[in-house]
Amino acid sequence: MSVTFLKRSIWQRILGISATDKPGDPGGWRYGAGTLFIDLARVPELTRPGGAVRFEGQGLPQRVLVVLDEDGQYRAFKNRCTHLGHRRLDYVPGTGTVQCCSLNKSTYTFDGQKIHGPAPRPIMPYNVELSGDQLSVKLV
Ligand code: FES
Repeated sequence: MSVTFLKRSIWQRILGISATDKPGDPGGWRYGAGTLFIDLARVPELTRPGGAVRFEGQGLPQRVLVVLDEDGQYRAFKNRCTHLGHRRLDYVPGTGTVQCCSLNKSTYTFDGQKIHGPAPRPIMPYNVELSGDQLSVKLV
């Protein structure tokens, strides 16, 4: 599998500035009982194939990256590169990969395996379920 790098400036990479935003509506999601619940009616960023959103704070025990890939499949990952900077990840559209926002660009497949960069371990994908407009990401 070849690796595609997101176009980011050197400063964005040095500072670890993720290309992926938080949801525009902070009330469009909640965490409870080990699950991240996302109301897609309020998080339209995740209704367009190729869309991605990062969820963090608001009691969430870890950062989570959620992606709607071009095949219409939802994917979710612990949003923490396993390299020592532990920086955030971004979806690389059309590639089936997510990539660390740092200079070293560790890159992982959708099943979490590293295919590029210095990261020593896989990342953790989460199970995702869609029911109507509600997306549930099980973190435990
Ligand atoms: S923190 Fe991800 S490659 Fe260094």
